[in-house]
Amino acid sequence: MIGSGTTLVECKLLQRSAIGVDINPDAVMVARNRLGFSYRPLDEDYKKPEIKTYVGDARNLNLIKNESIDLIVTHPPYAGIISYSKNRIGEDLSSLKVPEFVGEMEKVADESFRVLKPGKHLAILMGDTRKHKHYIPISARILEVFLKSGFILREDIIKGQWKTKSTREKWSGSKYDFLLIAHEHLFIFRKPGKDERTTKFKNSMCW
Ligand SMILES: C[S@@+](CC[C@H](N)C(=O)[O-])C[C@H]1O[C@@H](n2cnc3c(N)ncnc32)[C@H](O)[C@@H]1O
Repeated sequence: MIGSGTTLVECKLLQRSAIGVDINPDAVMVARNRLGFSYRPLDEDYKKPEIKTYVGDARNLNLIKNESIDLIVTHPPYAGIISYSKNRIGEDLSSLKVPEFVGEMEKVADESFRVLKPGKHLAILMGDTRKHKHYIPISARILEVFLKSGFILREDIIKGQWKTKSTREKWSGSKYDFLLIAHEHLFIFRKPGKDERTTKFKNSMCW
């Protein structure tokens, strides 16, 4: 779910080889284009990483072998809050309503678990929304989905949102910082190591 390729640009700067996947061929083209920048690193030992991209579905990473990936960094749509392909691409998860989106994310979580090496990490950025004046905790549902797939939660990092309508919202009349949807969750999960005893992490795992 590379979108316009921010993660891949960081990979190039950090010398990390990467495989970027997105369902939308336009996104993959934009990402490839953004990667074309010339870069003169300060580090003399800098070796150009191998960065591949392909048009594919995060629910079925058929080109990627079991337990071959060191780190997954993903940023799915927040269900249908923003429609990325304007319903032109059937497999685009941003065309789904929240319950169907959460259901399909189970496949993304299982597939991520399959390709990740044991003991390695997955980072996923998720946000919430509100409808009919009620809160919709998409990120909490997605957290449960990844725990159910077998991941252990390492961190829930809060990323502030800027320049959006919601960051201007405060509890009306409040002079304190009680903010309404002013953040997204960057969940960091770990796949258990081979033969690792996970009992001591049980409160960070699926119950
Ligand atoms: C929130 S955007 C990612 C934005 C990205 N962080 C960036 O820097 O531009 C979500 C992306 O997920 C992609 N996507 C939606 N459904 C997908 C699927 N089934 N498999 C792979 N990518 C998908 C969309 O095409 C969109 O580019």
